[in-house]
Amino acid sequence: MKTTPPGVATKLAEYRQEHLLQWWDELSGEQQESLVAQIDSVDFEMIRRVWQESKISSTAADSEVNRVDQAAAPKSVVLQPASETEEAQWEQAAEVGAQRLADGKVAVITVAGGQGSRLGFAHPKGMFPIGPISNRSLFQVFAEQILARKRRHGGDIPWLIMTSAATHSETIDFFEQHDFWGLDRETVAFFQQGSMPAVDASSGRVLMSAPDALCLSPDGHGGLVMALKSSGLLDRMASAGVEDFFYHQVDNPTVIMCDPALIGLHAQNNSQLTTCVVNKLRPTERMGVLVDISDHVEIIEYSELNEEQAAREDASGQWIFWAGNTAIHAFSLAFLEQLTSGGGQLVLHVAEKAVDHIDVTGNLIEPSELNANKFERFIFDALPLATSALIVEGNREREFNPVKNAQGNDSPLTSREALSRIGREWLSSAGHTLQETASVEISPLTALDADELVGSLKDGRITVNSLTGPPAAT
Ligand code: UTP
Repeated sequence: MKTTPPGVATKLAEYRQEHLLQWWDELSGEQQESLVAQIDSVDFEMIRRVWQESKISSTAADSEVNRVDQAAAPKSVVLQPASETEEAQWEQAAEVGAQRLADGKVAVITVAGGQGSRLGFAHPKGMFPIGPISNRSLFQVFAEQILARKRRHGGDIPWLIMTSAATHSETIDFFEQHDFWGLDRETVAFFQQGSMPAVDASSGRVLMSAPDALCLSPDGHGGLVMALKSSGLLDRMASAGVEDFFYHQVDNPTVIMCDPALIGLHAQNNSQLTTCVVNKLRPTERMGVLVDISDHVEIIEYSELNEEQAAREDASGQWIFWAGNTAIHAFSLAFLEQLTSGGGQLVLHVAEKAVDHIDVTGNLIEPSELNANKFERFIFDALPLATSALIVEGNREREFNPVKNAQGNDSPLTSREALSRIGREWLSSAGHTLQETASVEISPLTALDADELVGSLKDGRITVNSLTGPPAAT
C-alpha cells in the first residue's frame, strides 16, 4: 500500500474534495494508481468556478431573457430550392461539393461518445440495429454511405469517429468484428473525448461511483474540438490535404453523408461553419433553434423558451424560432484549428441530472430526483465564434430522423418507418409503387439517392428483389 502521492491530498484539501481519498487505505496498489489518475484528470479550479457561477441563477435567467428578446429569425439562410433557378444553383453547389470529395478535401466526423441514456440500449448507440429489414446497425449504414460516396466521387474520405471512455473499446471491437464493412481500415480513426466529474448539486463535492472511482462522464460533443487536437488528428488531416469536415451525430441514419450540396454551399460561401436546419414541427418541439443575435448566429435551446416565446412570430407572420438544429454541420479545418489555439475551449454548461453514486458509508444511492450537476460542452457554441457562418435548410423528411428515445417521437420505430418511407419514394420514382405500410430497406451500396436507384433499375444492374442489399452481419 502506498501513502498518498505528495500534492494530491493538499490539492484535494484546497478544493474541499478530501473525501475522494476516504477509502485509500483499503485499495490495492492498482486501484490507488487508477484513482490518482482520475483525480489528476480533473481541473478542480475550473469545476469550482463554473459550478459556483451556475448557482448565481438570477444573472443567468436575466441574460437568457435578453437573448430570447434580442433573437431574430436567421437572415443568412439558403432555403430549399423553390424555383428552377434555385434548383440550378443547388445543382451547381452539388457539383462543387462533388469535386471537393473527388479531390480528397473532405473528411467525416461522427460523434459517438454519448451515453444514449434516453434510448436505454446497453451498447454504444452506433451498434443499434436500425435497418427495417436487415437490422443493419447505425454504424453499418454510415460505413456503407461512405464507401458508396468514395465509389461515386473517387477521392479518399477519412472517417474520424469520436468515442468516449463509455463507448471506445466496444465500438472498435464492433468495427473489427464486421471487418469495417469493407472500408479500408487505414482510413478510419477512433479518438476519445475527455471526461468530466459529476458533483453533488448542493455541495459541489465530486461524487464517487466506487471506492476507487469518481463519477465521470463524457464532456459533451463540444469536447470534439480539443479531442481532435490532442489526438493529433487535426494535424494529420491538414497534412493529408483535408480542408473541411462533414460532421454528423451517430443517431440519424437518414443523414445524407457528405452531402455534396451542403459541402458545395459551404465552399462557395467561404463559410467557417455551415449548419443544416429544418422547420420545427410545432413551436414547443424539443429542438435547439438557430437565430441571429446582434451580428452572430447562435443557438437557443428549447429549454430557454417558454410557450409564449417559442410561438413568437416576426412581421411576416413566420415563427422567429423555426430553424431547428439537425446537428449536421460542415466545419472548415482552419476554423477548428483556430478554436483550439489559445486553449480555446468552448463554454462549459452545467446540467442537473440524477446520478447514481456511493455515499460516505459506501452504499449505492440510486436517486429518483435530480441530485447532481454534470458539466458538458456543446459543439454549437462554436457558431457565434465563426466570422462567416452559413445556414442551409435541409429536407426534414429525407434527412432528419434521429433515434433519441426508446418510444414515441424520435424513436427506433419512427426512424425505421422513415427509412422505409424513403425507400418506397425512391422505388416509386422508378415506377414501382408499393403499399404504404411496406417495409423497404435500400443499402447505400445499392443507391445513395432516388436518381441512382432509377438508373440502376433501368439498365438492369439491379432488380427490385435485390434491393435490401447484403444482409447485415450480426
Ligand atoms: P445527445 O445529446 O443525443 O446525447 O447526443 P446522448 O448521450 O447520445 O443521449 P442521451 O441524451 O443520453 O439520451 C447527440 C450526439 O452527440 C454525441 C452522441 O453520441 C450523439 O451522436 N455525444 C454526446 C458525444 O459524442 N459525446 C458526448 O459527450 C455527448
